[in-house]
Amino acid sequence: MSSRNILITGGAGFIGSHVVRRFVDRYPDYHIINMDKLTYAGNLANLKDIEDRPNYTFVKADICDFETVCRLFSEYSIDGVIHLAAESHVDRSIVDPFSFARTNVMGTLSLLQAARQAWEPSGWKMAHGAGTEPVECRFYHISTDEVYGALELTCPEGKPSEISAHEVYGDDFFTEETKYQPHSPYSASKASSDHFVRAFHDTYGMPVIVTNCSNNYGPYQFPEKLIPLFINNIRHRKPLPVYGKGENVRDWLYVEDHANAIDLIFHKGQVARTYNIGGFNEWKNIDIVKLLVRTVDRLLGREDGEDMSLITYVADRKGHDMRYAIDSSRLKSELGWEPSLQFEEGLEKTVKWYLDNQDWLDSVTSGEYQKYYESMYSDRK
Ligand code: NAD
Ligand code: DAU
Repeated sequence: MSSRNILITGGAGFIGSHVVRRFVDRYPDYHIINMDKLTYAGNLANLKDIEDRPNYTFVKADICDFETVCRLFSEYSIDGVIHLAAESHVDRSIVDPFSFARTNVMGTLSLLQAARQAWEPSGWKMAHGAGTEPVECRFYHISTDEVYGALELTCPEGKPSEISAHEVYGDDFFTEETKYQPHSPYSASKASSDHFVRAFHDTYGMPVIVTNCSNNYGPYQFPEKLIPLFINNIRHRKPLPVYGKGENVRDWLYVEDHANAIDLIFHKGQVARTYNIGGFNEWKNIDIVKLLVRTVDRLLGREDGEDMSLITYVADRKGHDMRYAIDSSRLKSELGWEPSLQFEEGLEKTVKWYLDNQDWLDSVTSGEYQKYYESMYSDRK
């Protein structure tokens, strides 16, 4: 295997930490440079187990800081980028859209331009030392299914699916050909960054790949997102704020299955191609919430469903997308990828992880975050 120097952005966040760990573990010949600004969502505790590995370097920096990004490309002879750094929470984007445009759009552009300056002069190839075979450079941008907008809930009760172990709630899915129709400031900023990435391929010939993934769940997710927030609230018997009627549908994928897909696509994906990543695993929010209550209650030795009364319907999210459902058959047919975990198994592992890691939850939610959460929730009552 050839040696590579890979810049992973946002590696101290939820998905990024799983990707960094996977690459550091699996590729001892690679040098993994994790660049992260350490916003409220980035936490070095997520990577404690690998922080001393010889093939790993952490750099605290902002992707919008173009000079620093350029310096890193030259200092570490970066030949591959896996770009995950972003502002990622839809509710925050509704309150503060500017910071989403700054990081997600301008930050991506800053990385693209730095990569171009480093790679274009040598024909998008990089040799590490005299006599070594040059490696093909690659800019891999991690995006979301939310850029496609929202699907309709045409089967509100769900219907058996031919492609999934679970029910589906509509007749169509997002494919790689679905036109972009983002609704939230978050998804608009991600859509814009996707367009910039493709523009750098079409204009300059940069070797890029974009993937659009559905909702991830698993360990180390910041507890402002539905699943970790609700596990923590059930444990502490705090209200579970379900937006609207709880009928919105999301398509859930275990985070390590996403990291595994990213590894495969980084190495084997076709340049300038887009791949959708998803688990064919649609759930209505309210059904997940009930499953979480039952699972947490069982694991804590409480009466079955004792905490259902915590479910509190609150004002809906503005512009709340009704349904996301990803068709990831291209990834299956071209690269042979499939999710490894059934949802119930993944959710059980996830609930156990949060119940066993209360220290992690307490450390990431101390201070400023508490104030933010309380103000968000009081606005919705
Ligand atoms: P996250 O919010 O948990 O982590 C984001 C990381 O980026 C944090 O470590 C943060 O410190 C860092 N960061 C933010 N702004 C930065 C900046 N200006 N410079 C450097 N670092 C910065 O996010 P996540 O859920 O792990 O998502 C990672 C990526 O995957 C994002 O691009 C997101 O859009 C995409 N994605 C997420 C999901 C999901 O379900 N979570 C699904 C599909 C795609
Ligand atoms: O689809 C991929 C996207 O999934 C990623 O691009 C985003 O970064 C990620 O945050 C996630 O977006 P969602 O908005 O779908 O995730 P969230 O966990 O915030 O919400 C999931 C659903 O649960 C959504 O329909 C809103 C609802 N919800 C969420 C919260 C936080 C509630 O009903 N109550 C809540 O308190």
